[in-house]
Amino acid sequence: MLLPSLLALTALLPLGSACPQHQNNKLSPLRKRTADPSVSNNSSPEWAYEASYNWHTIHPSYSLCQNGTQQSPIALSLSNGLSLNHAPTFNYSSPVSGNFYNWGYGPAFTVAHDGDWTTHPSISYDNETLYLKGWHIHAPADHSVGGDRSKAELHLVHVDSSGDERAVLALRLDPGNVDSAFFTQLPSFIPFTELDVQEPIEMDLTPAMEDVKWFNEFWTYQGSLTSPPCTEGIRWFVARQILFVGVGQMQGVLGVSAYSARAEQEVWLHRINE
Ligand SMILES: *[C@@H]1O[C@H](CO)[C@@H](O)[C@H](O)[C@H]1NC(C)=O
Ligand SMILES: *[C@@H]1O[C@H](CO)[C@@H](O)[C@H](O)[C@H]1NC(C)=O
Ligand SMILES: *[C@@H]1O[C@H](CO)[C@@H](O)[C@H](O)[C@H]1NC(C)=O
Ligand SMILES: *[C@@H]1O[C@H](CO)[C@@H](O)[C@H](O)[C@H]1NC(C)=O
Ligand SMILES: [Zn+2]
Repeated sequence: MLLPSLLALTALLPLGSACPQHQNNKLSPLRKRTADPSVSNNSSPEWAYEASYNWHTIHPSYSLCQNGTQQSPIALSLSNGLSLNHAPTFNYSSPVSGNFYNWGYGPAFTVAHDGDWTTHPSISYDNETLYLKGWHIHAPADHSVGGDRSKAELHLVHVDSSGDERAVLALRLDPGNVDSAFFTQLPSFIPFTELDVQEPIEMDLTPAMEDVKWFNEFWTYQGSLTSPPCTEGIRWFVARQILFVGVGQMQGVLGVSAYSARAEQEVWLHRINE
């Protein structure tokens, strides 16, 4: 597999999207209808990240967004300690094929699915194996750590063998000194305006995992989807290590992203690290 490097992409970006910072201010008519890819059902009423405080007023089926006890995201801190429980192990066999696209808020990838989730790359913890459905990026990061918010956050969404969302691995993204091999392997980013573009690719997930030391240190808690209907019963794993990417790569990600962080939720019955 040979894919154009991100260096080529950063050179092309200014031509591809003339004025991304201005487009960020203009809501795509499709934007509010675009659900988080971890929500399998787009038929629910419109919502927007910019209005996440009052999602429960839009539709009764969104009430958990307001009165749920384990809503995501939350603020984390080293004063929480790090988790000694639920350590995930990985079977991220590579390469993995799927579709690369923009979910309306940033880069995303869905693992090719033939009806059997158990053939997907997987994680295991607590005697349970869950399967990677895909990943997507939020900007800025959903989870702050010690009051610091990263520029973006990569979510790897995992489902059980029936396809129900059960766990999300969260990797915080910030600019560093060298390009990240995870992003170098990807083709040119697709702008958030091109919601219909799906590019079949093969990719290797392991560079991202190596950069965060395979979750050797992490926080975990019981949380929810970060978009309506804010379904609970999702275990979150937030890596302590940050996934550092090159400055040009960071600009590439942000250039095709739109505001997609839900307001941080009060810690309640989240059982952080328990
Ligand atoms: C879609 O989601 C809404 C809101 O959660 C739910 O009421 C509805 O039953 C779902 N539709 C399907 C087809 O799953
Ligand atoms: C949460 O709020 C909704 C809407 O007011 C209500 O229907 C639901 O019963 C509440 N949940 C609980 C557990 O009280
Ligand atoms: C890893 O996942 C592959 C499918 O992607 C599966 O064939 C293999 O048996 C799994 N290995 C282990 C040790 O579970
Ligand atoms: C995993 O399974 C073993 C054997 O059934 C059991 O002893 C252990 O308590 C289980 N661990 C968890 C975390 O459920
Ligand atoms: Zn997400």
